This record gives sequence, C-alpha cells and structure tokens, in this order.
Amino acid sequence: MTINTTPLNPHFGVEVTGIRLADVTADHLFPQIRALFEEHSALLFRKQDFSDEDHISLARLFGPIEDRQADERKPGETFSIPKVSNVGDDGTTFGEMDLKTLNLKSNFLWHSDSTFLPVPSLVNILIGRVVTTEGGATELASTRAAWAMMPESLKIRIRGRGIWHHFSHSRRRISPELGELPIFNKWPATRWNSIWENPINGREALYIASHAYKVDGYDDAESQALIDELTEYCTQPAFVYSHKWDVGDVLLWDQRAVLHRGTPWPYEQPRTLSSICCSVTEEDGVDRVRMPA
Ligand code: OGA
Ligand code: MN
Repeated sequence: MTINTTPLNPHFGVEVTGIRLADVTADHLFPQIRALFEEHSALLFRKQDFSDEDHISLARLFGPIEDRQADERKPGETFSIPKVSNVGDDGTTFGEMDLKTLNLKSNFLWHSDSTFLPVPSLVNILIGRVVTTEGGATELASTRAAWAMMPESLKIRIRGRGIWHHFSHSRRRISPELGELPIFNKWPATRWNSIWENPINGREALYIASHAYKVDGYDDAESQALIDELTEYCTQPAFVYSHKWDVGDVLLWDQRAVLHRGTPWPYEQPRTLSSICCSVTEEDGVDRVRMPA
C-alpha cells in the first residue's frame, strides 16, 4: 500500500492512510512517520488494530517511555499504560465532582503534557479504547503556525523569556483541593524558554501550557494575563483540529509545537483513552529550551 496524507487543518496535522501501525518497526515505516511528525506536528491513523504491546513498541521508537509513577511502584510492579479514563476499577464511572473527574477536567485547559517534569515530553500517542456518543473530542492547536502568524507586538513581549511551570497550577485552576494533592506537588518548578526551535527544520513554536504560571520579567498577575493572551491567540479556531474519537483511532502530536485539550462529555458515559508519552532526548532540541540559571 502507498502512504497517503490528507490535512487535518490548513496549517498543521495530517491523517495518514496506507499504514498498519502494528507493522511499524525502526527500519520499516518509522522513518517516514518520524519525518511526517517533524513536518506536520500531528498525525492521525484511524481505526487501527493496535494492542497495548504495539502501543509500547511504537512509543519506544520515538524515545524513552515516560513513567511518572516509577518512584511510587513497589518492587516487582511494572509499567502499565496510563489511561485517561472516567472508569474505576469496579467498572463504574466517576461522579461529576469526584476529584478524579476534576483531574480530567483539568485536561480541558489547553496544555502541552509534562512541561512540569525535569525532562519534558516529545510526543503523546493516544488511542481511543472506549469512546462516547457525544462530546469527548480531543482538540489540538499548532503553536508553530500561530507563532508564525502572531503580530510582532505580541511576540516581543514573550520572545527569549523563561516560563515557569508547575503541575499543581493547572489543577488549582480547576479546584484548589485538587492542586494540594501530593501527586501534583511531586516535582519542583521547571523553567523553559518560551520558544522551542525544531532542530530538524528550524521552525519555531511557542512552548506554553496550562501548567505555566510565571514569565521572567513580569509579576504573577501580568504573567498569567500574558500566558492567557498567548494561549488564546494560539487556539483560535483557524489553528485548531478537533478529533471525534472512534475505537482504535491513534492520534499523536509533537508536544514541542502543539497544545491540546479534552472537551466535556456526559460523565455517565465511559470514556477511556490509552496514552503513552515519550521523553525528549538531546536530539529533539531540548538544549534550545533550557535556560541559563
Ligand atoms: C492527555 C489529554 C485529553 C482528552 O491525554 O494528555 O490531555 O481528550 N487528553 O482526554
Ligand atoms: Mn494532556
């Protein structure tokens, strides 16, 4: 089969057809996928027959698999694929005001994953496992396309500055109680350059997230206002792709150049996505976002 691509949005993202993702190996098809990823920032493969093992194998080709619970696991316990889900171990859905639901609602704020980790992430590979009949779309916005079109008057307010990130910040914006939980206070604040330049093609993208709370040179209120203004600019409908899930859809995106968010659904409906993030390595240009102390 030949690989075909169709745009998801005029500015970024492609749907890829002609690939069975389960067949991908380092030498077979991955080089093409990686090139499409660098060029288009987001890739969609619909209705794949894709097991958890296939998911892990594909993720390994992008980079080290992120394991946020590594330090919490008891001896003998191994990595299991993180689920973005409103279904508990007993099979019932969480109530609307349950802290677990509030955590899912924090995902409705535009963000890039893992900006609060000591090593941020390159990609999130999401798979639709249980999907809803209404709502529950995942939306992506290109901060590369938006940065290229942003008025210079807004660019000069952020270019070259460090931005501070903390996991609890995005949780606190939804619920102060959520923000206090130990799992959201495990990592010290991180500081990244506001612009991530892609090392392969030199394209710049704004690197922001709902986890961002402070910009060097501005006070707290000015920082939040600027982060909100930049996020709003980048997430105008022109720069957004909204994905309505089918079971087996695989959607992956470049965390260096794309913001994403979940959208609400009727919470009595179960919804489960499997998600693997891979950490960046030096080859992904992380040196370009590290700031001098
Ligand atoms: C994620 C995420 C949003 C959604 O997987 O990191 O933010 O649509 N998901 O559930
Ligand atoms: Mn996310």
